Amino acid sequence: MSTSKFAVAGATGRLGRHVVDVLVERGQQVVPISRATGVDIITGNGLAEALSGVDVIIDVASWHASEEDAATQFFRTSARNLHEEGQRAGVARITVASIIGIDGATAGFGAAKKVHEELHLSGLLPVRILRAAQFHEFVGQLLEWQQGDVAYVPAWPSQLVAGRTVAEELVDLATDPDEPAPGTPIPEIAGPRRETVAEAAQLLGARRNIKVVGVDNPDLPDAEYAAAGGLLPGPHAKLAGPTFQLWLDTQP
Ligand SMILES: NC(=O)c1ccc[n+]([C@@H]2O[C@H](COP(=O)([O-])OP(=O)(O)OC[C@H]3O[C@@H](n4cnc5c(N)ncnc54)[C@H](OP(=O)(O)O)[C@@H]3O)[C@@H](O)[C@H]2O)c1
Repeated sequence: MSTSKFAVAGATGRLGRHVVDVLVERGQQVVPISRATGVDIITGNGLAEALSGVDVIIDVASWHASEEDAATQFFRTSARNLHEEGQRAGVARITVASIIGIDGATAGFGAAKKVHEELHLSGLLPVRILRAAQFHEFVGQLLEWQQGDVAYVPAWPSQLVAGRTVAEELVDLATDPDEPAPGTPIPEIAGPRRETVAEAAQLLGARRNIKVVGVDNPDLPDAEYAAAGGLLPGPHAKLAGPTFQLWLDTQP
């Protein structure tokens, strides 16, 4: 494949750092975008300059908290800015990371991501979306959000997936010369093993001396939907390792 120039919005995040690595390993040109690199996709500061000469934007930027209104505002503004500035810069398309099951979300962060998908799909530039399961890297965040040596984590079934695995699939999608056939479902990437988020957190908790308690019915948006398997991949999903345990074994 010929070399293209990719702007990665959210380049320093859990997923974004892997996307940058995969692109670089494949010989592509990369423009990393985050506030840490001096580019703000909300205020637009530095965005026009960053998108100069870019062929494809990969949007893996995210809001840092779960409150629905603030997250929706972030995704609304960032999607609009990426489409408007992208079109001005002559960008061909945007590839976006999303979450498996968010089409069934009615509240909270999931609902904000649903709006994010809709805004991207109705934006000025062509868009490709990849929905992913919960990242292995996200489990640590769930423990860090809580104080003390006991953590309460949802016992929601998932097929947790490594950020690196998602990044490879996202870059494949971003660089695919073929457009998907009409009616093709939004692609999904998940890990090979079904387990609850709490079970994965227990494995990590054991390393950090944190007791993890799985919670059946946490007071969280769409808890019933998630507990009933709403976050599990569909039959068309690609499943790829490593499992959470194997991934954890490679972590320092
Ligand atoms: N976490 C999961 O388990 C999971 C699962 C499935 C799908 N996803 C999706 O994957 C995507 C990436 O998630 P993640 O967990 O990797 O996110 P993350 O670790 O929270 O990273 C967010 C990134 O966005 C950047 N960012 C935030 N505000 C910005 C701004 N105003 N301007 C420019 N950059 C900004 C951050 O960098 P700065 O702070 O330096 O700006 C950081 O690089 C999201 O769309 C998420 O919904 C996540």
